[in-house]
Amino acid sequence: MVDSLRKPQENTQLDELRPGVKAPSKDTLLTPRFYTTDFDEMAKMDMSVNEDEVRAIIEEFRADYNRHHFVRTDVFDQSWEHIDGKTRELFIEFLERSCTAEFSGFLLYKELGRRLKDKNPLLAEGFNLMSRDEARHAGFLNKAMSDFNLQLDLGFLTKSKSYTFFKPKFIFYATYLSEKIGYWRYITIFRHLDSHPENRIYPIFQFFENWCQDENRHGDFFSAIMKAQPQFLNDWKAKLWCRFFLLSVFATMFLNDIQRSGFYASLGLDAREYDIHVIKKTNESAAKVFPIMLNVEHPDFFKHLDTASDASLEVSKIGKAEQPKPLKLLRQLPHIATIGVKMIQLYFMKPIDMAPARGVVR
Ligand SMILES: [Fe+2]
Ligand SMILES: [Fe+2]
Repeated sequence: MVDSLRKPQENTQLDELRPGVKAPSKDTLLTPRFYTTDFDEMAKMDMSVNEDEVRAIIEEFRADYNRHHFVRTDVFDQSWEHIDGKTRELFIEFLERSCTAEFSGFLLYKELGRRLKDKNPLLAEGFNLMSRDEARHAGFLNKAMSDFNLQLDLGFLTKSKSYTFFKPKFIFYATYLSEKIGYWRYITIFRHLDSHPENRIYPIFQFFENWCQDENRHGDFFSAIMKAQPQFLNDWKAKLWCRFFLLSVFATMFLNDIQRSGFYASLGLDAREYDIHVIKKTNESAAKVFPIMLNVEHPDFFKHLDTASDASLEVSKIGKAEQPKPLKLLRQLPHIATIGVKMIQLYFMKPIDMAPARGVVR
């Protein structure tokens, strides 16, 4: 058993709200966000065009295949003090970010389930069942944090985080992508550790295989909803917005993960290769519903991302320097400008139109 009362020295550099409860990380452009939306518009959405698919996915949610999956078996009953120093810090950060992202899904789906209960019971049931899954995921990750003698106060997080408002259409693009990219992230780590058992330094990754199937089903639910709202997918605005969301999600992950390459290295993974694989796979998944996919095979695509990520490493390096804030900002500005230019160049790279591939005339 891990002695949760003892505070190891490695945790002293982490801010704590109170003993053993980690203060949430500061919000930046790259941290997981909490969302809210227009519940009335959501309630009025008619699913009839694709109701069978929506119902079939809800039926899958009801089957609850992972009911007995998230149980802390005795594989966790040992000391994790040997994961120390920088690796420990990166581990805690990974668990916190993942827990916050899962919990953000829980809050949004729970609220949607509650607000749509009487006005749109079909969607409400889907959201409630997904919030059940996300609560398990967040809880399991938070328990894992306690193996490192810390926990997140999720009640405090609910009240203290700021919420980003998105119209339903944008909630669908964003959550669809975050569920699908979540699926590819988890399954890629699982498969890697399955073939490289020597890198299994902590048991949570063994749970990722069934876990990621929840995320895959959640993504399918959003895909079915979007197909029931063809106006979200079939005009020029949809093409521009899908391009924007694909790029934002991919770039955020890439910049984040390269900054934390030490975490992936501790699992025997190369962060850049891992991200390229996840981006390619998610792009292929999204092409099944979005009207466009990004041209990630273009030789400039990852070149631009690499330049942006180098600049983002500089920004964070300068941010940690012992200097007055205005001076740091001045030094950071050219790098921030580089990131901006690269994002614009990436956004204007011609995407691949999916209509011809689907045999759709628009
Ligand atoms: Fe989840
Ligand atoms: Fe999910």
